[in-house]
Amino acid sequence: MSEFFTEYKTIIVFLHVISAVVWVGGMIAMKFAAHASFMEVESPQKRLQRVAHALKRLFFLVIPFVIILLVTAIIMTKAYSLSQSEYAMLAYAKEGIWSVMAINLFIMILRRNRAEKLIDKGDMVGAKFSLELIGKYMVPVNIILGVSAIFIGSYFSSNL
Ligand code: HEM
Repeated sequence: MSEFFTEYKTIIVFLHVISAVVWVGGMIAMKFAAHASFMEVESPQKRLQRVAHALKRLFFLVIPFVIILLVTAIIMTKAYSLSQSEYAMLAYAKEGIWSVMAINLFIMILRRNRAEKLIDKGDMVGAKFSLELIGKYMVPVNIILGVSAIFIGSYFSSNL
């Protein structure tokens, strides 16, 4: 694994970093740019429809990058023998962060799907509740976790 990594290091680290950029950057853009703009839409039904649609596109976009991030992380864990090194705890912390972010994403996908069904049924109160949880808590949690993982990544790249 170590020889494979040495040969393809640039592309592996690039794929790892670009995946983090798309996943974490996508959520930041959604929360601070797109969401604020959707709130300007006057009709509650249209507003919820726009939010649900934008989240659907974001989630579809990030799924491949979530997987690429994990695959490149596994390659680097093995190549750097992180589990046997003094950086083991930080590597476990990053694995934990990835896991919580992925579970959180999965629950957000389920909630969004539910919200879309509620919008179609005309239950705007239920749909608003589901989408509000995503925007107010679940996306910010993933942004904070993602930024922490990027910080540990920067520490790794300057120490490994
Ligand atoms: C799943 C467990 C993870 C492991 C084992 C891991 C491991 C690593 C390692 C070893 C590096 C240093 C690469 C090098 O310079 O040779 C790195 C860098 C990086 N990681 Fe991760 N990572 C994981 C998850 C994540 C997650 C969840 C994110 C963000 C969502 C992330 C974002 C980054 C970034 C942005 C860098 C580059 C930092 C820089 O070059 O300054 N990583 N990671």
